[in-house]
Amino acid sequence: MPLYTITYISRAPEVRGEQRRAFLGSIVKQADRINRQNGVSGCLIHVDDYFIQVMEGPRGPLSETYNRIAQDDRHHEINLIQAGPAVTRQFTSPSLAAFDIAADSNPVFSKYKVRPDFCPYQMAPHSLTDLIDQIAIVCAKLDTNNRRVRTLPPSQAA
Ligand SMILES: Cc1cc2nc3c(=O)[nH]c(=O)nc-3n(C[C@H](O)[C@H](O)[C@H](O)COP(=O)(O)O)c2cc1C
Repeated sequence: MPLYTITYISRAPEVRGEQRRAFLGSIVKQADRINRQNGVSGCLIHVDDYFIQVMEGPRGPLSETYNRIAQDDRHHEINLIQAGPAVTRQFTSPSLAAFDIAADSNPVFSKYKVRPDFCPYQMAPHSLTDLIDQIAIVCAKLDTNNRRVRTLPPSQAA
């Protein structure tokens, strides 16, 4: 079956500490269950007050998933960054890999920072796609077959 990929960014609510972990955990628990049924794999990255999600799977289920996500009021300003065919899966595990990242302590994000605070909406399109490609490679390497939300420490970020 032909494989497709979709990447988007969105603005997340300002949640901190335990509340932040619980917020991401509840999204991932729900998303992971549905994605497994639909053959959709990928990663959800919660970076500062933004989400970056890379998803891959068969075209129909993938676009249905994106449409559902785009209507979810747990985030807003959803911007489609990239959509198209893919040759192979970057995320080989059927689970949704989830990561919580602080942009200012992560070398990949620091490298691309265009303002004092990371803001993907302000970035040049090619810089943003490069950044997402690089962070997705890191996340795919750490991809595991469980639903644990990981905090990405600086040592694992380059
Ligand atoms: C940032 C974010 C990422 C999400 N990722 C997924 C996902 O990968 N797969 C999925 O099925 N739902 C995901 N969801 C949840 C969907 O928006 C939606 O609530 C869920 O698919 C159930 O849809 P329904 O209430 O229309 O049945 C995500 C939600 C948010 C806020």
